[in-house]
Amino acid sequence: MAFKPLFGSHMLYGADYNPEQWLAYPEVLEADVKMMQQAHCNVMSVGIFSWAKLEPEEGKFDFTWMDEVLDRLHAHGVKVFLATPSGARPVWLAQKYPEVLRVNERREKQLFGARHNHCMTSPIYREKVALIDSKLAERYGHHPAVLGWHLSNEYGGQCHCPLCQQKFRHFLQKKYGTLEKLNEQWWNTFWSHTMFSWEQIESPSPIGENAVHGLNLDWMRFSSANALDFCRFERDVVKKANPDLPVTTNFMEFFRDYDYFEWASSLDFISWDSYPQWNVFDDPDYIASYAAMNHDLMRSLKGGQPFVLMESTPSCTNWRPLSVLKRPGMNIVSSLQAVAHGADSVQYFQWRKSRGSSEKFHGAVVDHVGHIDTRVGREVQELGSILSRLGAICGAAVDAKVALVFDTPNRWAIEDAQGPRNQGVNYLETCLDYYRPLFKRGIAIDVIDETCPLDKYEMVIAPLSYMLREGYADKVKHFVSKGGTYIASCWSGIVNENDQCFLGGFPGPLREVMGIWEEEIDSLPEGKQVKVQLNPNGLDYGFVNGSYYGRELCGLAHAESGTEVLLSYASEFYHDYPVITRHQYRHGQAYYVATRLDAAAMDAFLGLVAQKLKLKNALNEKAYLLPPGLNIASRVQEKERFIFINNYDTQEHFIKLNSVFEDMLPAPGKGKNLAGVITIGPMSSRVLRQPL
Ligand code: GLA
Ligand code: ZN
Repeated sequence: MAFKPLFGSHMLYGADYNPEQWLAYPEVLEADVKMMQQAHCNVMSVGIFSWAKLEPEEGKFDFTWMDEVLDRLHAHGVKVFLATPSGARPVWLAQKYPEVLRVNERREKQLFGARHNHCMTSPIYREKVALIDSKLAERYGHHPAVLGWHLSNEYGGQCHCPLCQQKFRHFLQKKYGTLEKLNEQWWNTFWSHTMFSWEQIESPSPIGENAVHGLNLDWMRFSSANALDFCRFERDVVKKANPDLPVTTNFMEFFRDYDYFEWASSLDFISWDSYPQWNVFDDPDYIASYAAMNHDLMRSLKGGQPFVLMESTPSCTNWRPLSVLKRPGMNIVSSLQAVAHGADSVQYFQWRKSRGSSEKFHGAVVDHVGHIDTRVGREVQELGSILSRLGAICGAAVDAKVALVFDTPNRWAIEDAQGPRNQGVNYLETCLDYYRPLFKRGIAIDVIDETCPLDKYEMVIAPLSYMLREGYADKVKHFVSKGGTYIASCWSGIVNENDQCFLGGFPGPLREVMGIWEEEIDSLPEGKQVKVQLNPNGLDYGFVNGSYYGRELCGLAHAESGTEVLLSYASEFYHDYPVITRHQYRHGQAYYVATRLDAAAMDAFLGLVAQKLKLKNALNEKAYLLPPGLNIASRVQEKERFIFINNYDTQEHFIKLNSVFEDMLPAPGKGKNLAGVITIGPMSSRVLRQPL
């Protein structure tokens, strides 16, 4: 099930390169390419914010500097992801055509400045973007250095201008057909909010309508679809010059604005910008699991196809309250983690630190000192050398038998609903609670959404599936009836895709398969916990007595006939109500978890489920809990498997190998084969290879 490598059998390694900031320093540009070679870099993302240098006046273009940059990179063996510059516009465009400026939700038109703040509906913006994009595509679409297109930069946000309002109304007309239908789905009789003409509909606003959740959801859907439409528009322009050049756009960390699963099929490959807070928390597995889950999401967007790590920092960011440096070794470990989870590249923001403006203190490969004989530069060079030895991994798949459902429209709905926990339902964090015990056992996980097929998995975990999209419940029933294991939590199956509650008992259309009825849901104040006890069924199942607690949301459910109660509440007026239930449904089983369980309970529960299902770890043996900070993951080609052992901890750890492996990164003078118990030093990685 391996994939054809996107860019041949060598790992890509490089950075965002912004030479337009250094055109007055020719010696810097010369030094750059030499250092790129020294660091084993083979790709740079160029032109991301170059519009004002490429078209300093309307219709007056200057490509000479870009010609030189691309030719110089090419001459030094460095390929290019060429960007379209639509992420930030030149001042002349904003001044002459104010319609391109974004309008915020308070209906305030933005001034020129910053970036990512244009209207994606504006015909003038589109016309001007198409012009510059087509000029770039015609000139460089066949340049030997150019590997692919980096469309815009981190598309994001929304615009509430009159043009966008009009387009939103058309979107709604297409979706609902009639106003009666829209009024009915949005439950507009409530507070007399019935719409009598399409023109009366406005996007949500803090100074206007903001309480109609169906409207809010449709606005999120529209904004995602409209930005995607803009992205496709750019794609189609550049594809005209060379349809074979692949396109991507750089996605962001668990991004909330847009539905990436909807976007994925419009792009040839996925790329993303990863900035987890390494070395900030004492628990070495917290950020490791968070980052891994995000990589798994990116890989799952296109059915497991390897992705490009388009940006990361070699040292620190500068936009958080604290700019914590990656500790020595962490850049290598965190980068190899990306590869372990499906990246065929490692790239940084940015190659050279800017001299001025807002990113002058953001981590970069080349610091203001001007060379790479620095702590960061040396680690970057070492990683370049490591990656140059891992080309055989390109295209390798991650063979996941478990999927976690993290659904963006559900996230919009659950976070917007005025319900049991307006101070935060912690959807993402709860998903991570379920991800982590499996991650800590080296079990591969896909992170999918409700539109993805379920049948290839043995287990599907879908916490807080508040909103069920059309057809999803049927898919779950089919999956479980065929023998699959499904895990759901409280506050699932509450509303349909327009945020209307299911009638007839929650979890709505999942009630039959889950074998429970959730009658009420309680919310606990921050810091308050409810004790959880083991039932005889839980002991039979294998739970060992311990102190388990629930928090935040507590579903009050009834087990329906045939459903076993493994754990139940031990305090509150819902003492004895179920906390974990298990329901056999045809050939499979469905588990319901009533509350946000603490880490010990989650680990006990998922460890037991993994054991019953005989889930394998990355070493292809019965999965077991790894020591804190140690993690394993694997990728497979047709005939070989690659195992990554990453230690995020400040202490060394050991792992026992179950056969002989080839060490892909042997220390000088060390043999190539590894067996038995091996050491993984603090903040370091091993990469092993095994024929299949
Ligand atoms: C984003 C942007 C980059 C840069 C980095 C800084 O990912 O795409 O241009 O601003 O953030 O972390
Ligand atoms: Zn607009």
